[in-house]
Amino acid sequence: MTTSQGPDPKDLERVAQAALTRVADGMILGLGTGRAAEAFIDALGRRVRGGLRVKGVPTSNRSAELARRVNIEVASLEDVTRLDIAFDGADEVTPELELTKGLGGALLRERVVAFEADVFVVLVTPEKLVPKLGSRTPIPIEVVPFASPSASRHLRKLGGNPVVRKKADGYPYMTDNQNWILDTDFGPIADAAAIHDGARRIPGVVDTGLFLGMASVVLVGEPGQVRELKR
Ligand code: A5P
Repeated sequence: MTTSQGPDPKDLERVAQAALTRVADGMILGLGTGRAAEAFIDALGRRVRGGLRVKGVPTSNRSAELARRVNIEVASLEDVTRLDIAFDGADEVTPELELTKGLGGALLRERVVAFEADVFVVLVTPEKLVPKLGSRTPIPIEVVPFASPSASRHLRKLGGNPVVRKKADGYPYMTDNQNWILDTDFGPIADAAAIHDGARRIPGVVDTGLFLGMASVVLVGEPGQVRELKR
């Protein structure tokens, strides 16, 4: 069940445990960012302390810290040339397994790590399921700070309403790559590929939170069960 505070921790734990059943000794794993990914990293750490040997490539400094704290061996993309499975959360999931990601600010590294993985497993709770991307969240778009004003103007021409993400102190939120994020409301998106491609053509746009054709499987942690969605 979802509360106004966010997903039920029991649903997150259930989906993390379901994800763990896909992990085997010796694997190299992508470690996502956000609450679902952190539930997975925590659960994985317990298995590592029980003797499982894995390496993890984290998608954010925050997830790297957590992984180290729970005794998971952290690797970088210099250390490994491919990953077996990347595990990560998402902000929206459509029936076609298209995703919005990046409300946690780690979209760029999340895409890089998922791209390097043979399998990309997405962990969510049911409130993330939407008919169309853009239905429940704006689309996070990572930009080089210098280009933020011009990129914003061009995103408006694509039909979006970009807002620079701010921290509680009023200063722009800075990603781990020292970029900014434009949270861009497009409303429910009819053609996500066109928005992604159009945004990526704007100079200074580094990436969008639209992850299309990337998820291998989505695990939905619900009361009493974990549902598996496939394309
Ligand atoms: C991080 O940048 C995001 O892509 C997260 O994966 C996404 O926001 C889901 O986070 P939660 O599991 O905290 O909802």
